[in-house]
Formats: sequence, structure tokens, C-alpha cells
Amino acid sequence: MLPLALLDLTLLRLSAPTPVQAASCALKGSPWASARRMHQASLATPPPPPHLAYNYKNGPAIAEKESPISLGLAGLGSLGPRPGQIISDARSELERRVKALEEAASTEMSALDPPSYTEEELMFIYEDLLALPPVSEVENKLSPTELAQQQAEEDTSVIKAAEQRLLAPDPGEEISSPTHHRLLAHINAVVTRVEAVRKASMTSADAESPAFQNSLPVTVLSTAEFESLLRVCIRDSNISAAEMTLTLMKRSGFVIPQNIVTNTMELYARAGNVTAIEKTLATYLTDFPNEYQRYLHIKSHLVSTPADVIPASTLDVLHSYETQGHPAPIQAYTSVITSLFSCKSSLARAQAWDLFSHMRYVAHPDPDVPLYTLMIRACASPLGTRPSEPEKALDLWTEMTVDRRLPPTAGAYDAIILACARSGSTMYVNEAFRLAKQMLDAHRDARGESAFRPSRRTFCALLEGAKRVGDLARARWILAQMIAEQRTTDDTGNPEGVNEEVMMHVFHAYASYRPPLNRSAVRSATHPSSSLGQVAGQSVDAPTPTVSHEPTHPSGIEAYDRTPTFTQVPPQSGAEVIHETQILFDRILHDTGLKKFSDIPDSGATFLDEKFKDVEMTPRLLNSYLSVYYRHSSLETARTLYQTLFEEYGIPRTARTCVEALERCAIARRGHERTIAPTFADEVWTQWQSLEETGRDGERLLSGRIIERAHIAMIRILSLTNNVARAVQHLRAFAAKYPPSDLRNAPPKPALRSTRTALVGERPLVRMTSAAEVPDDHVPPLIMFDDVEILHHRLVAQNSVKEISYLSYICKAYECALRARRDAALKMKPETMRTHPPEARISSPSE
Ligand SMILES: *[C@@H]1O[C@H](CO)[C@@H](O)[C@H](O)[C@H]1NC(C)=O
Ligand SMILES: *[C@@H]1O[C@H](CO)[C@@H](O)[C@H](O)[C@H]1NC(C)=O
Ligand SMILES: *[C@@H]1O[C@H](CO)[C@@H](O)[C@H](O)[C@H]1NC(C)=O
Repeated sequence: MLPLALLDLTLLRLSAPTPVQAASCALKGSPWASARRMHQASLATPPPPPHLAYNYKNGPAIAEKESPISLGLAGLGSLGPRPGQIISDARSELERRVKALEEAASTEMSALDPPSYTEEELMFIYEDLLALPPVSEVENKLSPTELAQQQAEEDTSVIKAAEQRLLAPDPGEEISSPTHHRLLAHINAVVTRVEAVRKASMTSADAESPAFQNSLPVTVLSTAEFESLLRVCIRDSNISAAEMTLTLMKRSGFVIPQNIVTNTMELYARAGNVTAIEKTLATYLTDFPNEYQRYLHIKSHLVSTPADVIPASTLDVLHSYETQGHPAPIQAYTSVITSLFSCKSSLARAQAWDLFSHMRYVAHPDPDVPLYTLMIRACASPLGTRPSEPEKALDLWTEMTVDRRLPPTAGAYDAIILACARSGSTMYVNEAFRLAKQMLDAHRDARGESAFRPSRRTFCALLEGAKRVGDLARARWILAQMIAEQRTTDDTGNPEGVNEEVMMHVFHAYASYRPPLNRSAVRSATHPSSSLGQVAGQSVDAPTPTVSHEPTHPSGIEAYDRTPTFTQVPPQSGAEVIHETQILFDRILHDTGLKKFSDIPDSGATFLDEKFKDVEMTPRLLNSYLSVYYRHSSLETARTLYQTLFEEYGIPRTARTCVEALERCAIARRGHERTIAPTFADEVWTQWQSLEETGRDGERLLSGRIIERAHIAMIRILSLTNNVARAVQHLRAFAAKYPPSDLRNAPPKPALRSTRTALVGERPLVRMTSAAEVPDDHVPPLIMFDDVEILHHRLVAQNSVKEISYLSYICKAYECALRARRDAALKMKPETMRTHPPEARISSPSE
């Protein structure tokens, strides 16, 4: 959205006197961009030293092949240019930075809805990972289902036999509880009796000695029978029964086999029962926990931590194993890093990257493919509105596939494709398509069958790229491919067809597409003598409507084109864009049965085979559909759709719905549009206000950024439509509701972000992200001068001295408060470490 606003900002930047100023304008200018979240990006602060600025956008490079110690401990300094270079490079560096930011800002326009890491996506990786047999030494973990089945049957018969022997149940007797519970109760009674007898005949000192317990085993059950019993309890997921079995076994004087202890730990880890697992470690282990047991210990902590909380206790345990010289296996690190990323906070994210580097330094220099995939995937989804980090992702990709020759999986391909596609830069989007081609072409077997098939995830990743660069031709081609695909499920039966996410991306691609300026101008280009040569020359810059980028003759396009209105050539005007999206939307309504169409003949449905039947109506789908209208139709038409669309399908409007409508009004063109804009905006505002009052947007809290976007758009609309007095009133109300003083208090810094250098510690030794680089997710809403520049212009024109000074004062106040917040965050000491060392909780079994 906001192309005009962005144009203004771009002009502003170009005319800015120095690169330094330009940099700060660009930072603030890219609307609702990272500026507000970045500590180092406060206006009029001395710019960070060039070596700090250097990697602001890309993040620190990962250069593992150099000594990780010097890299990590020397901190960021080592990542920038050498001191001698700094002065001469400073200018060009800043210019580069400004340019990068401008690019980021302009891609944001097309990135209407860059979804961050969704829970679903994360779980995909996470579950895949946990499903891997963590460590091969545990055979049970690897045995196929049949073996497990066989084992279960064996166990049952063993227990039946033991019951016959011990309890000798009357065949006619009513059996009230399952066999193994009665067996347990019986053994408990026997062992207790025997113990009582022994205790009576000994001194208490004797009874405590291990010699006593080992000397006379109470042979009620054999070890094998106990093992069967335990497996049955574990299969039941009955923690108390499993624990009771172990206790009885110990009390009977048996040495407990380690694989049985491990099996019990698996049960506890799944249940996230930290107490039980730590008790087991302390009581039943004879050696230091092996790799898999350490993994289970860490997993229990992870499972017991709520999803959106930083797993602090897990990190403690992880680091404690390191200090004891037995780091947890790599799978444990991958799980912890995954859960840090799923916290969706910038802090946790920074911690995840630090933990990755740290792991390579202290424990596992060579990540495995799932971990590489996870890190590459993370490059695709920096939180909030920052673009992805394709360079970093490609570094990791090269390291994995070239340096270490690890064969990539389909998931790894999807991750790197997404990281490149989400960058929004044409170069990397092309790289994403190249990688997709490589994925399908480079791994063919002898019969030429590709090892990989593009999944919906692959297609969605590519669509993310196409929509960001306004490449409608490719987006249409991908949709055609998906429609042509006969398979509607993947190998494991999950649906793979067109869904709501696909259609959201497709609508975004229509929204960000710029049709050639004028069709007749394009035609006239074929006449060299045309007097319209000038115009024709311009049209060369417009996207050339070619379909073929990768495969030259996609088979799918025909299927797609059988709908009469779809041609191979993308729409040539705004009206054609609207027409085409309307057809797609109607198709969705038709296939999902939401609406009957008299003009879509039933035979038409068989063409496409109801390919759109899985598209669910969601707020974000409707928002994306509406965004096409904002871009390509008149404000009136868009308004009508805004008014009717959501009610028609019973879908609630979200904060985004309101903000995008307001932002569309804020770029109303002179003339007719500006007469509609204020009334439309007022309607939207009423709906927005009720959202703002609840402070929630569906499940999530409203972010400070979206709140300020709404207000800034409203102030702009009022200023543009000569409601200057109301605009000032609005600004005052905003400042009263979100006073600058709210900004001053930065959230406390957790102990795990301590920057004190330590060689032995409960936290990463290698810190890749400095305090200044961790974005602040919790900056309250604020308004900066650029946001209200139009209002300022109008006030100057009216010569309203009092209002002008108020406006300057309030913007300055926000700016100072933001700077104070940043300074405080940088200086802030982390909270003190927890006092008890975690070692105390991992009781070493040798004690
Ligand atoms: C778990 O095992 C105990 C002891 O055998 C038994 O009393 C209890 O009912 C079991 N719980 C469940 C949920 O099966
Ligand atoms: C964890 O296991 C213990 C037995 O060791 C049990 O008493 C406790 O209730 C369990 N806690 C949870 C949260 O399940
Ligand atoms: C395209 O440009 C030509 C010449 O500039 C003009 O006559 C014609 O009306 C334009 N067509 C549209 C659809 O704007």
C-alpha cells in the first residue's frame, strides 16, 4: 500500500542533504518499518560507527571457518571493515545502507502481508526432527511398528503368566482392574511384607546399607518380567505405575537395566515431567547420563515450558552439561533453538542465533541437515517487518551443500527458496526460482524421475517471491501448475492442493502487479514511425508480459486457460486485473459451495475439478482480495467491497483490514477521491476504535506499530482533506493516549542476555548479536515528524504558529523518549542469575 506516500518519502530521501540524515529518514521513513524497533535507529542520534552499521541489515555473517573464538569474543568489531578502511568507506557504506533501506522500503509496498513464522510451519520442522530417531544406540526407538507390536503381545503374555503363577485367579472371578495393576499391587504388598520382616531382625544401620538390599533379592518376579511390566505401564503412559515398577524393582534388589531406565525417561520427557525425570537420573542411573538420556532430560524441560516463553531452565541444563564436559547431542540443540524461534520475540531470536554459534564452538562444530534447515528457515522470517536475510541463508546453504557435501532434503530446499523469495529483491527472487529448478532437475534417478516433487510449501515459497517483485506472470504460472497437478495429497496423505495461503499470495501478486501503462501505447511500439515513440519508450520499463521463465511450455497453463477469460498474457490494465481476480474469487465461492452461480456452467466446474474447494474463507484471504481493489480499482468500488465483503461471509474484520483501508484513503487522489476518503475513513475509524479498545486483534495483542499506522493514516487523511483542525485534535488525542513518557521504560533484560565475557557459563560464550542489534518488540505507539509532515505543511500554509510548535514539540518528545529508551536498554545490566547452580538439579548418579 501507500505507493504515493512512499514516493514522497523517496523524494525526500533523495533530496536529503547528507547520507547520514538520509539514513535516518530512510529508517523512519519506511512506514512501520523496523526503525521503531531498532535501538540504533533513533533520529538525530549520532549514527553508529560504520562497523556497527555495516551489517545492520544482513546481520552478522557466519564465518565458522575462521576461529570461532576470535569471531565470537571479539564481537562485532571483527565483522566490519578494518579500522583503516573505516573513514574512507564510511560514506559509501552509508550510501549503501541508505540504498538497502530504500529497497527494503519499496519491497514492503508489495509485501502486503509478510506472514512471520507460523506455528504450523515451525511444528512441521520440529516434529520432523523429533520423529527422527534421536540416537541410534537405543534400539527400541528404531524398531519398526511390527516389532513393537510383537513386543507388546509378548509382554502381555508374560504378565498373564506371572499373574497365573502369583495370584492364581479363579477363572470365574470378576476381574475389575487390568492385570498389570493387580500384579503391581500384589508385588508391592509382598515386598513391603518382606522388608518389614527384615527390618525387624536388623539394626537400622544395616537396613540402610546397600549390601543388605543386594544380598537377598526378593524374587517375586524375574528381571524379564519386571521389564515387561514396565513396558506395559509405559505403553499406558501411566507415570505413577511406571515409577512404582522401578521402585519395586529396586526394592527387590535387582540391578535395573539401563535401557529400561531410558524407556521410562522417554515417558517422562513426553509428559514434560521434569521432577520425575530428574529423580530417575539421580536414583536409577549408574553412569553419567548418555547422549540420548541427556536429550530426554532437555526435552522434558522444553515440553514443560509454555510455547511462547523463553525456555530458561532448558538453557541452564544445556549449558550445565557443557560445563560438565558432556554436551547434549545436536538434536537437543536443534530442539532448543526451534523453541527459541517459536517464542516470536526478537530477544529469543537473538538468543537462538547465539546458541547456534555457541554450540559450534563448544559442542558440535558441524550441524546436521535438520539444524541447517532450521537456521536457513529462520533467515526467511525475521520477526516483524524486517525483510529476510538471503545472504546469510545462502552462506549456510553453501556451507552445507558445498563445503560439507551434505545432501539437501526437500525441507532444506523449501527453506532456502523461502529465504531468497522473501527478500523481495529481484536478484534473490530469481535465485529462488533457480534453486527450485535445481531441486527438481539435479536429483534425478536413472529413469529421470526427480527425487523431489514441488510441494505446496515449495509453491508458496515461490509465490512469496513472485508477489514481492510484482511478477504476476510467474504467480499465474505457479497457480496453473498447482491446478494442473493431479495429485491432491502428498505421500503421507496431507492435502497439497490450492488452499487459502496460496490464494492469499496470488491475490497479493495481483495487487502488487503493475499493468503496462497503456495498452495502445504498447501496441504503438511496434510502429517505429509512430509519433508516440516517447510513450512507447516508457512502456519498455513496464513488466513484459511473458509467461515463460523456467519451463518454457508449462502444461498447466492450458488447464488454467480453459476458463475463457484467462489468457496467456497477464492482464493489461487495472480493469483486467480486477476482472481476473473476480473470476478467481468466484471460483473459490463456487468450489467451496458458498455461492451458486448461474453463469458458471456445471461443465465448467469439471474443467478445474473443483480445485479451489480447500480454500478456506479467512480474514487474511479477504484482506488480500481487497488489496487488489485498493490498488487497481476506484476508491468507491473498493469502499463498497469493504462494506459488504466481510458481512457476506461472516468473517470478522481485523486490525489489518482497517489499517489498509485507512491507508488507501490516505493516498486518495486529488478530486473526486478526496471527497469520498473522509467519509470512508470515518466509517473505518469507528470499527478500528472498537478494535483498539479491546487491545486485541483476534488472538494476538495489537502491536504498537499497527496502532500508530492507523493514527498516522487518519491524521494524513484529515490533513489532505482540509480538516487541519481535526488533524491537530487527533494528534493531541493520540499523544494523550500514548504519552511519550510511556516509551522511556525499556523492558528488563534477562540474565541470559548478559554480555559479560565468561569462559565457563550458563549462557552462550559466543555472542553474535549485540544488545544494540536486538530489536525492541515492545515500543509503545509513537509518531515521528515524517509521519505528520503533510500536517506540518498545511499548518505552515495556514501560518498556525501555535499548532506548528505543538507538532514539533510532540514529535521531539517521542524522539527523545525513544532515544532514552535505547540508551537505557544498552546500559541496562541484566537481571541477576538465578542463585542455585543448575548442577544441583542434575544430581550426578555417582554421588
Ligand atoms: C496408573 O497406575 C496405578 C497403579 O497401578 C493405578 O492405580 C492407576 O489407576 C493407573 N492410572 C491410570 C490412569 O490408568
Ligand atoms: C511427575 O511425576 C511425579 C512422580 O514422579 C508425580 O507425582 C507428579 O504428579 C508428576 N507431575 C506431573 C505434572 O505430571
Ligand atoms: C492510451 O494512450 C493513448 C495515447 O496516449 C490514448 O489515446 C488512449 O486513450 C490511452 N488508452 C487508455 C486505455 O488509457
